[in-house]
Amino acid sequence: MTKIKYIEFNGTEHLVDVPKGLSAMEGAIRYTIPGIAGDCGGACACATCHVYVEDGWMEKIPPMEELERDMLDFAFDVKENSRLSCQIKIDDDMEGLTLRTPARQY
Ligand code: FES
Repeated sequence: MTKIKYIEFNGTEHLVDVPKGLSAMEGAIRYTIPGIAGDCGGACACATCHVYVEDGWMEKIPPMEELERDMLDFAFDVKENSRLSCQIKIDDDMEGLTLRTPARQY
C-alpha cells in the first residue's frame, strides 16, 4: 500500500492507501474521491481523470507517453503539471504522492 493524497479543488484533502499496481485514477475511484471521473476505465480515451501533480513529484513519476499527451489536449484547464491519473501506476516509491483535482472534468 502506498499513501496517496488527493486534494479536491475546494481544498478538501483525502489521504488514502492505494495498492501498488493500481493507477492513481483507480485509487481515486476506490475511495470515491470527488473530482476524478475516469469514464473510460483507464484506457486513456476520455481525459476525465485529469489531475495536477504537486510540486516536486513530476520528476519522480514515470514520464508521459504520446497517447496521454494527445488525450490531455481534451482536458479542461491543462497546466504544466497536468497528467491523466489513469496513466500513473502506483509504486512503492510514490509514498506521499499528492494530486490535485481541477475545477471540473468536462
Ligand atoms: Fe479515461 Fe484516464 S480514465 S483517460
